[in-house]
Parts: sequence; structure tokens; C-alpha cells
Amino acid sequence: MSIEQIAKNRIEKIASFFKAKQLGTPKIGIVLGSGLGNLVNLITDKTVIPYSEIPEYLVSTVVGHSGEWIYGQLNGVPVIVLSGRFHYYEGYSMQEVTLPIQILKEVGVEKVILSNAAGGMNPSFKVGDIMIIRDHINMFGNNPLLGVNDDTLGPRFLEMSEAYSKKMIKIAFATAEKLQIHLQEGVYMGVTGPCYETPSEYKMFYILGADAVGMSTVPETIMARYRGMEVFALSVITDLGIVGKSEKISHEEVLQASAKASPLMEKLVCEMLPQL
Ligand code: HPA
Repeated sequence: MSIEQIAKNRIEKIASFFKAKQLGTPKIGIVLGSGLGNLVNLITDKTVIPYSEIPEYLVSTVVGHSGEWIYGQLNGVPVIVLSGRFHYYEGYSMQEVTLPIQILKEVGVEKVILSNAAGGMNPSFKVGDIMIIRDHINMFGNNPLLGVNDDTLGPRFLEMSEAYSKKMIKIAFATAEKLQIHLQEGVYMGVTGPCYETPSEYKMFYILGADAVGMSTVPETIMARYRGMEVFALSVITDLGIVGKSEKISHEEVLQASAKASPLMEKLVCEMLPQL
């Protein structure tokens, strides 16, 4: 059996595990990033499935990520929330990093919401800002779609002119205005990490056209688009890498800054859901 067939069987097996539980078919999947786990407390009618109970799944290794699939309702809308994601820097392959996205597709999800923590390079950004991702630059030096293509899953050459749904971005801005939440919008640079950037790297990424940089989201977005799902993604700006103003950062500071911004982000996402 080919590597691709083995991977496909694994995805189908895990999807069957969820389907057998008959928890409904939510159309929206939400992947929670660093420090944004509080959204799980707002879910009602919850069914929590720890990653360890899912056959052939992966185990999360990062501090601050608990690792659960949660079926439930957010603001009256059926959702699947993935608390704890798999990062490339943990040593997972691109196929493993994007496995949850493939399963979301198989169980019927049509729209994916991704959140993450990111360092801001745009000089108008402040720590704690929420940035709507308008577009991304893949700086991972890798791509989850490398390999033999299965045409039944998606196209060989994926079109990426609207990786992030313009419609969902419009809803986000209208909702934020109503809630008086200040939003930034920009381009997310996806890198492997696990190092944070040197001042010269932040500068280079800004010159290349990115407003913020982080270690996730890009592989998931690519896979979601490949599988025909719409994507909406947002970053909490947890630290700044602004030319001439670079400061030391730690993972703790990143977690603190995202915890502070998360109530607003949660409010925004909850209000958006019924409109999607
Ligand atoms: N760089 C990369 N990833 C990040 C950063 C950063 O500055 N902040 C949070 N995640």
C-alpha cells in the first residue's frame, strides 16, 4: 500500500470513529491556538473527546494545549472545537499537522476558524491587538500537499488567490464594529519556529510584506482550501518585532498576552457564528 493510501485509511478510520458517535454534523470547525483555550468554557451541550481516546490520533506536546475534540454549541451554533493543535516544530510531519483538518472535512465541516498567537512587525500594531489574517506567506519550506496527489481529495495545483474567505472577513469587521472591538488586518508569515525571530528576521519578514509572524495556521489553511473548506483566521499579537524597537520575549509573555486578548476574540467569534 502507498504512503498516501495508508494516510487516507487513517483519516477515514478516525472520521468513522466520530461518525459512529452520532454527535451531529456541525458545519463549523474551530482550531484554538496558544492561550485561547477559554472558548471551550463557553460551549454548551458539550461532548468532550480527549485526543488519547481517538484511534490512531496524535498526542499534543506543548505547554498550554490540552488536547480535546469537543462537539457542542457556541452561541446556539453547532461546532466542533479542537483544543490543542499539532505544530510542525514539535516534529510532526506536514501530513500529521493537517490531519485534524482532513478529519473535519470527512465529518462534514465546511468552514474552518483558526486562531493563533503571532509576533507583530507592523509598526501600528500593539501587544494584545487582534489581527484578522487577510493572506499568508508560506515560509515553512514545506507544504502538506507535497507527494502523489489524490484527485478525489483535491486538485494537484491548488489555487490560492482567496485563501482566507473575504466574506467571513467582512462579517468579522461588521461584527467588530457593532461590538466596538478594534481589529487589525494583515498578512501572516508562517515559519517553522521554534526560535522566535532575530531582529533581522522580523525586519526581513516585514520587508517581504508580512504584518505578523507565527508558527502555525499556514499548513492548516492550505489543507482546508485543498479540501474545499472556507477559512477564517485571526492572530493575537503577543509581542512585537518592530524595526529599531525589538525586545526580548518569552513563551510565558506570549501566553499572558493572548490570555488578555482572548475575551475579546471569543466575543467576536461567538457573535460571528450565527452569521456564517
Ligand atoms: N514569532 C513567531 N511565532 C510567534 C511569535 C513571534 O514573535 N509570537 C507568538 N508566536
